[in-house]
Amino acid sequence: MNAHEALRRASRLTADVAAEVRRRFGTPCYVYDRAALEAAARQALAFPAPFGFTLRYAMKANPSRGVLQLFRDLGLHVDASSDFEVERALRAGFAPERIQLTSQAPSLALASHVARGVLFNACSLHQLDELGRIARGGEVSVRMNAGLGSGSTKRTNTGGPASSFGIWHEDLGEVKALAERHGLRINRLHSHIGSGTDPEVWKRCARMTLDLVAQLPEVGRVNLGGGFKVGRMPEEPSVDLADVGAHVRREIEAFRERDGRALHLEIEPGTLLVANAGAIVASCVDVVGTGADGYLFAKLDAGMPEITRPSLYGAQHPIDVLAVGRDQAAVVFVGPCCESGDILTPAPGDPEALMPRWVPRPEIGDLVVIGGAGAYCAAMATINYNSYPQAPEVMLEPDGALRLLRRRQSSEQVWQNEL
Ligand SMILES: Cc1ncc(COP(=O)(O)O)c(C=O)c1O
Repeated sequence: MNAHEALRRASRLTADVAAEVRRRFGTPCYVYDRAALEAAARQALAFPAPFGFTLRYAMKANPSRGVLQLFRDLGLHVDASSDFEVERALRAGFAPERIQLTSQAPSLALASHVARGVLFNACSLHQLDELGRIARGGEVSVRMNAGLGSGSTKRTNTGGPASSFGIWHEDLGEVKALAERHGLRINRLHSHIGSGTDPEVWKRCARMTLDLVAQLPEVGRVNLGGGFKVGRMPEEPSVDLADVGAHVRREIEAFRERDGRALHLEIEPGTLLVANAGAIVASCVDVVGTGADGYLFAKLDAGMPEITRPSLYGAQHPIDVLAVGRDQAAVVFVGPCCESGDILTPAPGDPEALMPRWVPRPEIGDLVVIGGAGAYCAAMATINYNSYPQAPEVMLEPDGALRLLRRRQSSEQVWQNEL
């Protein structure tokens, strides 16, 4: 059993806690477990790096202030993916120099980030050029696409020729020319090859990234991105961080032998730190069937407005019906939206196919807990679709107390900006 399985099995979100969540905050409601978040961060902080290490949290996975502040206090740095995430990290109390912007879109606030000391990772030649115009003679990181990627699905692969992320490795000459033209010092190199990556591909890409570092003599810090696979279902594998760490350590030591540079290492996981530390407490609001050759459906009050991963990727999340003494039934779980894609139990990797789960036969009013919902759920949901208000977020404290992090949106807030 690896650390993530241990965390999941030790979940403190018991039926009593779920009932208290519903009584106090209503459903659907996100619940994050502080002890599990801390344990995941401490495990990642132990990543072996021979010449210095920075753990940079990819806040896109879960940018809730309560989560950010917890990681801030443990000494983590932040990967922000937009100008707005930079603001959010600053508001959560991160020092500017602990925030790095790695944005797919050009920044609209680059001058202000530079003035405040927020770090910048140029993700295209255009971004590098823009930085050079604003901060001649400054220091910069470049995000490179080393030529290979891997993700849990094609949609989460961010490396190789089919990915628009980062600067294509064959454009390194142009990177150097731009840096020279603007007097920029490229002292950091970054790559992130996807989410839910195959660890073997991740290791190969680490080497390919170091080969790029070899061609940029001023680089002293390499960021190998995130993407570490985390099983949310009991049968899904999770990355063996110790194995990947040992491999990277050897690579960095070998680089030192070849090149003389002792590189500072960064990794920037999102999923690894939060995925299994969060859950959604939901209620079963209806049960319908489609005959002997059809399906039994349980409709929950949580769906796409809270969790899109199943309908986007065919991602699998544990779903527990908190009922005892019931017969088991094969059930397809769906969300509350008028949208046939609002499915919580698709087939693995195939959002269009239904995959019933064997669970205690649900009844209206049952509490249902959707697990593995700490990453890319609250952060990446279709909030306000069908005008459902955004769900609240709660922290389960180590002493069992439930602390509200974010209130449920009111109806007025859904339409407050309409003129
Ligand atoms: C640049 C960058 N770094 C890190 C991450 C985190 O990835 P994961 O949550 O798979 O660890 C992402 C996710 O898309 C990313 O785009």
